[in-house]
Amino acid sequence: MKKTTLLRALLIYGLGVSALYLPGCSVLEKKHAADTPAATEQTAYYTCGGCHGPKNVRVEFMTPNIIGQKKGYLAAKLRDFRDEKRLNPYMNGVTADLTDQDIANLAAYYSNYGQSKK
Ligand code: HEC
Repeated sequence: MKKTTLLRALLIYGLGVSALYLPGCSVLEKKHAADTPAATEQTAYYTCGGCHGPKNVRVEFMTPNIIGQKKGYLAAKLRDFRDEKRLNPYMNGVTADLTDQDIANLAAYYSNYGQSKK
């Protein structure tokens, strides 16, 4: 193999690997716990916010706006995704490891989002 070919192969491999580990973009990341207020905020920021947007703005048109939505509604939807009653490859991936408590915390976080500063 020529040296340039090898370098190019390494570069492409490197790009592929780093794409898998970009925070907030990867649905392969395994840590989505939300068992404490700090963990809830981190998961919301690093995982959910990558698609649902950090400031009451959706990142792209396919992603529903969840900020300020009713707590009970959000929790029910998250359980449906986790239990695969509602199918979406992204949402089934990020909810797979969530406990009922994690879901309750994330639902509360998003339904209260921005309200405390009034
Ligand atoms: C990779 C992008 C992506 C990530 C990351 C993501 N979501 Fe979603 N989410 C979506 C998409 C796309 C939909 C719409 C799915 C559908 O149409 O069924 C959705 C739907 C939802 C819904 C249903 C809203 C409704 O009105 O029915 C909730 C709730 C939700 N997401 C919460 C979350 C939470 C909480 C996280 C973090 C744990 C998260 N999402 C992470 C893309 C994402």
